[in-house]
Amino acid sequence: SWAGGEPGNGQMAPYACQRRTPLLHSNQPLTEALETLAEEAGFSGSEGRSLAFTRAASVLKALPGQLSALEELGPLPGIGEHSRRVIQDVLEDGVSVEVERVKLSERYRTMKLFTKIFGVGVRTASRWYQEGIRTLVDLQERNTKLTRQQQAGLQHYEDLNTPVERGEAESIGRMVQEAVQRFLPGASVTLAGGFRRGKPRGHDVDLLLTHPEAGREAGLLSRVVSWLDSQGLILYQHSQENSFALHEGPEPPGGRDVLDRFERCFSIFRLEVQGRPGAARGWKAVRVDLVVAPVGQFPFALLGWTGSRHFERELRRFAGHERKMVLNSHTLYDTRLNLFLPAASEEEIFQHLGLEYVPPTQRNA
Ligand code: GTP
Ligand code: MN
Ligand code: MN
Repeated sequence: SWAGGEPGNGQMAPYACQRRTPLLHSNQPLTEALETLAEEAGFSGSEGRSLAFTRAASVLKALPGQLSALEELGPLPGIGEHSRRVIQDVLEDGVSVEVERVKLSERYRTMKLFTKIFGVGVRTASRWYQEGIRTLVDLQERNTKLTRQQQAGLQHYEDLNTPVERGEAESIGRMVQEAVQRFLPGASVTLAGGFRRGKPRGHDVDLLLTHPEAGREAGLLSRVVSWLDSQGLILYQHSQENSFALHEGPEPPGGRDVLDRFERCFSIFRLEVQGRPGAARGWKAVRVDLVVAPVGQFPFALLGWTGSRHFERELRRFAGHERKMVLNSHTLYDTRLNLFLPAASEEEIFQHLGLEYVPPTQRNA
């Protein structure tokens, strides 16, 4: 079948967005090994190498069964020499010496520790490592200069690295829905990200806001966030303008409040939790991403914020290379026809791209 078929039959489609990738698959030890190397390559700034390992892992996730010998892979797309070697080692010895060495290396462990701080990317973590910083205590003792976001990340490090359970995500969805109803009745709140793909837990909560009448959503995000903040429910927030609209040209006549353009908010919520054994307090810090889309862009935003990250990357690569189209979280543009292709649902976007529809639970590439 187009979705993969038996290992080794050479039928697997080359782009992850042409395949079905369920959450649970049969090759966990292999994908874990490859993803560790992908992460390590990313820490070293080798984006190409990182992507190669990620691609290989993604292909294995789409296999219908457990791989027992390298030969079964046959001419599968996107699995290079290095990845094959790693797969062979894990199949034969249960582990890859290379991967084990990476996991034990001081640099990998430190980079992992630092990049798990909200607001810290590979570049910052790498600089700290080069400066000889190794622990979170080092960071504080050396008075390392931190952004407001990183300060919040450090302050809530433990909570933010404790998985968010689905029930918690749903509670936060209800909190936001309640706030949204105060300011814009009829507006909707949709849980996207990993939870929409069926994950039982995640690192954050991704929520998409829209209203069935285009334009009504303007200004909603700042009102909602201000209100939640006034209720003591927000520990940190940083809102960003809609850079897409900014590129569209001059302001509409009459002008709009500058806050109207806020499109997304990276935040930390204060979530009341009950019965946390051993917990000194009844609340937990949870990372929440809020995104607002006008209804015409909603299917694109939903598709773009459901993930996985690799599935999204592959969708955009497919659109560009195979269809000469540009896909982002706002629109789909056909460069041959010179026009935007509107869509009222995710299904229609797949149709425009000439792709078989992949439901969210099969986008775990
Ligand atoms: P967990 O949160 O770990 O459960 O996984 P997740 O898949 O939900 O990851 P994450 O919350 O990081 O991202 C969810 C989706 O939103 C992914 O597909 C990302 O590609 C997408 N996303 C994240 N950040 C941005 C962004 O800045 N812009 C856009 N357009 N999409 C983003
Ligand atoms: Mn998420
Ligand atoms: Mn997110």
